[in-house]
Amino acid sequence: MTKTKDKKLWGGRFAEATDGLVELFNASVSFDQRLAEQDIRGSLAHVQMLGQVGILSAEEVAQIQGGLGDVLADIRAGTFEWRLDREDVHMNVEAALRDRIGPVAGKLHTARSRNDQVALDFRLFTKEAALDLADKARALRAVMLSEAEKHLTSDGGEGVILPGYTHLQVAQPILLSHWFMAYVAMLERDEGRFRDAAARMDESPLGSSALAGTPWPINRHAAAEALGFARPTANSLDGVGSRDFALEFLAACAILSAHLSRLSEELILYSTFEFGFLTLPDSHTTGSSIMPQKKNPDVSELARGKAGRVFGNLMGLLTVVKGTPLAYNKDLQEDKEGVFDSYDTLSIVLRLYAEMLPKTLWHAEKTKAAAARGYSTATDVADFLARQGVPFREAHEVVGGLVGVASRSGRQLWELTDAELKSAHPLLSAEIARSLTVEESIRSRLSYGGTAPVRVREAVEAAKVLLGSGTME
Ligand code: ARG
Repeated sequence: MTKTKDKKLWGGRFAEATDGLVELFNASVSFDQRLAEQDIRGSLAHVQMLGQVGILSAEEVAQIQGGLGDVLADIRAGTFEWRLDREDVHMNVEAALRDRIGPVAGKLHTARSRNDQVALDFRLFTKEAALDLADKARALRAVMLSEAEKHLTSDGGEGVILPGYTHLQVAQPILLSHWFMAYVAMLERDEGRFRDAAARMDESPLGSSALAGTPWPINRHAAAEALGFARPTANSLDGVGSRDFALEFLAACAILSAHLSRLSEELILYSTFEFGFLTLPDSHTTGSSIMPQKKNPDVSELARGKAGRVFGNLMGLLTVVKGTPLAYNKDLQEDKEGVFDSYDTLSIVLRLYAEMLPKTLWHAEKTKAAAARGYSTATDVADFLARQGVPFREAHEVVGGLVGVASRSGRQLWELTDAELKSAHPLLSAEIARSLTVEESIRSRLSYGGTAPVRVREAVEAAKVLLGSGTME
């Protein structure tokens, strides 16, 4: 950043120079230069429209558009000089334009304010970011779906078996594919949230001007259309003063982050020596500088940890917005960094998971053995009795007693003697206890949305159809 300063674009009424610390505090160029492409796209459309309605001559339009093109080329080439004394991206671009084409540059800002300009730039950015994260969530979903399909047959049998947990206590056996499909369902909604948000923010605030609209005979609809928006915003105060489009984006990011954080927690646990369910790929794990045996799940830990900042970005902007009277307040300059940060964070986490999951090795014998322990088929024994006419509550009590006997003697249900089982209930026997395997338990869960292999296969097929038919930008 250079130290030479020019007169402020808003400097008309000021007699004293801006205090240096105020200038530093006030400036946003260090981060909003990221909006340069959107800013120039917006200015090009604005000037075009000013020409169409006769506010600017064709020659002025051509001069300004040519100059903006040169400024954009400089920015893309990395030769543009971003100046702190020019405060933000908007005034940097406009001042650079004036440096190039002279006073006619001053006509660019006719019928416009930085308030509608920044609202426009930021909407353009956020809409693109939302659609991009929708695509990336979809790509991860495709990966998880193909993992689900792979593990339906990967052990040569009826699919890899995993303990299903509630309270992190073994609950009932499930298919690993069913577990993957749960995340497929979450990611499908995550994608939908980003697309819904993008559709709702698809309105151009340009032409709201400072807050009240403008006396100039502009055509907001034409400018909105040129910028690829569905329509202009319907109220000028709302157009410049609202940031719920950014809040909605940040909320969708926060929910997606929560899902990825839960996934991370499961992968971290399942990769421990104690669980031993899976091995993460060397390419996506790290070692310890002191303990040679270590292989740490850093990607998953960071994905879990970064949920903190993504949640924080949502809370941050909610807090910024809540006390601001209509319409624009400088507080709103604080809207951008959180959006950039959540977008960048999730872009990388989604990509990393899409690469890491197919390289993760699941240990089918381990997961199956774990699924069989912990009395995971106790519900099946109770259901067996209930099917014979025993009221379910009574059956529950009987099996609970059996689990107590077994656990006190360090045995599983199928290791109880015929006599023990029969004395708990005459309809029970060693043969029945042995027949209630984890495979049988899984096969029996045929209800819609359940873990039976036929149901999971149907779910995989349905998800493939859904994935094939959706919009991919
Ligand atoms: N840098 C400002 C922001 O990001 C641009 C809008 C400034 N408007 C104003 N009236 N000071 O919010």
